[in-house]
Amino acid sequence: MARAIVVVGSRHGGTMEMGEWVAQGLRDGGVEAELFDADGAPDPEGYALAVVGGAVYAARWVENVREWTRGHSEALKAMPCWIFSSGPVTGPPFPSDEESVQFDRLLQWTDAREHRCFPGRIDRPNLRAREKAMVIAMRVQDCDYRPKDDITAWARSIALSL
Ligand SMILES: Cc1cc2nc3c(=O)[nH]c(=O)nc-3n(C[C@H](O)[C@H](O)[C@H](O)COP(=O)(O)O)c2cc1C
Repeated sequence: MARAIVVVGSRHGGTMEMGEWVAQGLRDGGVEAELFDADGAPDPEGYALAVVGGAVYAARWVENVREWTRGHSEALKAMPCWIFSSGPVTGPPFPSDEESVQFDRLLQWTDAREHRCFPGRIDRPNLRAREKAMVIAMRVQDCDYRPKDDITAWARSIALSL
């Protein structure tokens, strides 16, 4: 059975849970999936494919997954790789997949076959004081737009495309 590595950078847990849904979708499609937090994720070499995801803050992925991706860029470019972002929380209509995050850089590091930007989650009680002030200033409400079924279906289609 093909083995996939799923690596996620998350600040408040929402994107990590999306990583669990990705891993589940891959397994549904017959791929053995291992999920790692970007802090301490292993080298992707030896896996048949990689799916890398990052929470978006100020138009960039969180630092740990940027560092992991940049550090393993050569290996990622040499294997089938898909990337996803967890971002928009302003409600529909959501920006396109390439508008929410500094996508060019992510593509340079990975040669990803596809990038999907899924809407995210805001849970104010969990935010840091500065983050809370920002979302209040931007009038962003508590929300959870993460499309679990779409994410699982996307990952299943990745597994089936192999
Ligand atoms: C302070 C702050 C800044 C954010 N900046 C962006 C942004 O620039 N673009 C975006 O699409 N989402 C932005 N978001 C939304 C987050 O990406 C979203 O809440 C995401 O689901 C958080 O994932 P996590 O729970 O894994 O940290 C921001 C959220 C906060 C609290």
